[in-house]
Amino acid sequence: MDMRTPPSLLPLELDQVVFAVGGRRIIDGISLRLDAGPRTIIVGPNGAGKSVLLRLCHGLLLPTSGTIRWTAPEQPAGPRHQAMVFQRPVLLRRTAVANVTYALAITGVARARRMPRALDALRRVGLEHLAKHPARVLSGGEQQRLALARAWALSPEVLFLDEPTASLDPGAALEIEKGIVAMHASGTKIVMVTHNLGQARRLGDEILFMHQGRLSERAPADRFFKDPASREAAQFLEGELPR
Ligand SMILES: Nc1ncnc2c1ncn2[C@@H]1O[C@H](COP(=O)(O)OP(=O)(O)OP(=O)(O)O)[C@@H](O)[C@H]1O
Ligand SMILES: [Mg+2]
Repeated sequence: MDMRTPPSLLPLELDQVVFAVGGRRIIDGISLRLDAGPRTIIVGPNGAGKSVLLRLCHGLLLPTSGTIRWTAPEQPAGPRHQAMVFQRPVLLRRTAVANVTYALAITGVARARRMPRALDALRRVGLEHLAKHPARVLSGGEQQRLALARAWALSPEVLFLDEPTASLDPGAALEIEKGIVAMHASGTKIVMVTHNLGQARRLGDEILFMHQGRLSERAPADRFFKDPASREAAQFLEGELPR
């Protein structure tokens, strides 16, 4: 069953979104439209609000003011339509494959279909040989690949990724990148935060540059890296702003 059934939930539209804690605006009035298709990469210094923005988009946080709206409100966004991969994978104390079948179960996939689909997802990230191992004994890179397999098995319309390769060695990071490219090729919209500018160049169609809770710049990736429009972005690319 293809779960990306029309009508599409994209675009996702944010209108004047503010997220404030104790009077401090962590997200300071962001308006943004995320369309199906291009891989959107979010970059910016530490504390700019990138993770909070992803969590708002994924529905894990609610805006203090402003609106976040999917296109088809009659079909509320749920785990069938969107998935998120966190910097540190959140896994259950079960086997690798059970982590995936559990995610399929809670999104309503029929029991008989879960195991073949989970094994297929593990195969795609090169983890089928570890299917029966407890998730907790997998290495950091393997756990991250498992988190990606779990998201992939859901065939989400949108996948949010928050620094999915931050703690991985270069080889493991490239494996994750390949998985992301393949998911995108199969029709999933990619929205990813990364501090790895090489990765942003490799994977990004468009770049969102965040600075101090604002969306400071949005540009096609090649233009952003060649000729950033704002001083902050230019400084960031030159390493003058902490990443
Ligand atoms: N629930 C919260 N309560 C209070 N402050 C928060 C909360 N979540 C985030 N913050 C603060 O908001 C700011 C933005 O956080 P966020 O995690 O989005 O930054 P980031 O851009 O992802 O940074 P990094 O690159 O370091 O991951 C930080 O100063 C953080 O301390
Ligand atoms: Mg973050």
